[in-house]
Amino acid sequence: MDYLLPILAYIIGSIPFGLVVGKWGYGIDIREHGSGNLGGTNSFRTLGVKAGILVTLGDILKGTFAASLAVLFHSGLHPLFVGLFAVIGHTYPLFAKFKGGKAVATSAGVLLFYEPLLFLTLLACFFICLYITKYVSLSSMIAGIIAFIYTLFTGELILIIIVGFLASFVIYRHRANLGRIRQGTEPKVTFFSKKK
Ligand code: G3P
Repeated sequence: MDYLLPILAYIIGSIPFGLVVGKWGYGIDIREHGSGNLGGTNSFRTLGVKAGILVTLGDILKGTFAASLAVLFHSGLHPLFVGLFAVIGHTYPLFAKFKGGKAVATSAGVLLFYEPLLFLTLLACFFICLYITKYVSLSSMIAGIIAFIYTLFTGELILIIIVGFLASFVIYRHRANLGRIRQGTEPKVTFFSKKK
């Protein structure tokens, strides 16, 4: 059974909530709008708050559920390792021509299962960064870096390796965002802007 779990996790991660909610709920393919990314941020941007929350929650829970499979099935595999395959599925989804999200929400979901306190801390860091910078992409990358630094203090090797990989992967997937930030063309969120 153990060898099936990564495959199952990959399939779960491959569920493209951004596509499902956009197409079924609004008749919109979010890949043709905004950043073109199949994630929560582009769902907020393209479809609105309700859809954005739904897609983000779905993307987070894919990671949480996939990681939990290791425990549910009394597997010898580590939950973080199984969860990693959901992140790969989310990023290169079987059901969306292997073009998916940027690994943030599903990675967060994996941490929600394994280190809920770290998840909550990162969520707080993310919103503080978002308040300061107004960039979702930058705030996501900073949260990833903070997660990795945190793991160094835990001394748990598997956590350091997987979170190190996930944080690097998140930054790698945000290459285009980094370029846009440098050029000053990356869109900023307006949720926290004061009304004039
Ligand atoms: O989680 C993805 C987010 O950090 C950036 O998304 O659509 O602005 O490229 P987007």
